[in-house]
Amino acid sequence: MTDTVQSTPRAPDDGLLRGFWYPALRSEEVRGRELRQAMLLGIPLVIGRKAHGEAFAMRDSCPHRGMPLSAGQFDGDTVECSYHGWKFEPKSGQCREIPSLTAHDKLKVDRIFAHAFPCEEQDGYIWVYVSDSARQPMAGEPPPAPKLPTFSPRYRITRLWAELPCHVDHGIIGLMDPAHGPFVHQAWWWRTRHSIQEKEKVFEPIPNGFRIRAHAPSANSAFYKLLGVYGQPITTRIEFVLPNMRFEEIRCGPKWFSSRTTVTPITADRCRIDFCAAWNVFSWMPFMVPLFNLFARAFIGQDQRTMEQQARGLRHNPSLMLIDDADRPAKWYFQLKAAYLESKRTGQPMQHPIEGPTTLHWRS
Ligand code: FES
Ligand SMILES: [Fe+2]
Repeated sequence: MTDTVQSTPRAPDDGLLRGFWYPALRSEEVRGRELRQAMLLGIPLVIGRKAHGEAFAMRDSCPHRGMPLSAGQFDGDTVECSYHGWKFEPKSGQCREIPSLTAHDKLKVDRIFAHAFPCEEQDGYIWVYVSDSARQPMAGEPPPAPKLPTFSPRYRITRLWAELPCHVDHGIIGLMDPAHGPFVHQAWWWRTRHSIQEKEKVFEPIPNGFRIRAHAPSANSAFYKLLGVYGQPITTRIEFVLPNMRFEEIRCGPKWFSSRTTVTPITADRCRIDFCAAWNVFSWMPFMVPLFNLFARAFIGQDQRTMEQQARGLRHNPSLMLIDDADRPAKWYFQLKAAYLESKRTGQPMQHPIEGPTTLHWRS
């Protein structure tokens, strides 16, 4: 028998959604036999790769006495805790060795587990599935990790990121807030506050989210104007899906651009925006990826600076407003979250807050 001392886990009331995949690190951040630390939803993680490259994620805490496993040794097969040398197979978390045991001990080593998380690599990220219980490994298999949609065998792909000093909700509603564009993202190649015009778009419900129906993109954006060189009709489609993903797909005949922006909770008051984009447009152009990154980094930097300033305001807990229609997507996000949590609580199918196609109007 093992004696376990457990503190009662507190019900999470931090407004963070469990039961989803989150990107913990970029693939390139985990090399060889390094043990890397990461944090998701306030859970400290240790992430590494087994000898054949397969990524793993465990709670960065030894089940014996809480030593961070990231302080231990990893030989490509088992992680050895630095305190008493217990060894764990990191994909399953199963204990393989307790050096202090003698032939007199009855303890079944293989019944002891460190908390291992489902872990998959996709689009250059190491994704970790955070199940409903932060303390217990999940029972059963999670769905596959999210994948960026791509539409031809050859494409370029890039990834950018920025940390934001705020709760993930503020990052997410910033992500689908159409009205900040002309003020925050002023640039000759995007739009200026003088280019504001009235917009009308049809939104429709999709599982766990909503979609802006495919439409011709804003005439007031230079990026879309560039695509005009292909002489084909351009359509763009934007989706938001719980817990934190915004997909944008631009199609122009056989040419396409696809992006996914996720806002991932690191703790209750820090998050990270990860932008992953792939495309086959302008493939003839030299230095397309660094050039694209230059613009995208400037764009994300504008959001980052804005969120840093907003965080200063939010520190004093002001009351906030969400207005129609420009803030309707933000309201839907909160309603989707509430509906998701309610369906978890009752075990009933999720009641989608959006009944059918809805046209929203705003100026941006
Ligand atoms: S704390 Fe890890 S082996 Fe004791
Ligand atoms: Fe923005």
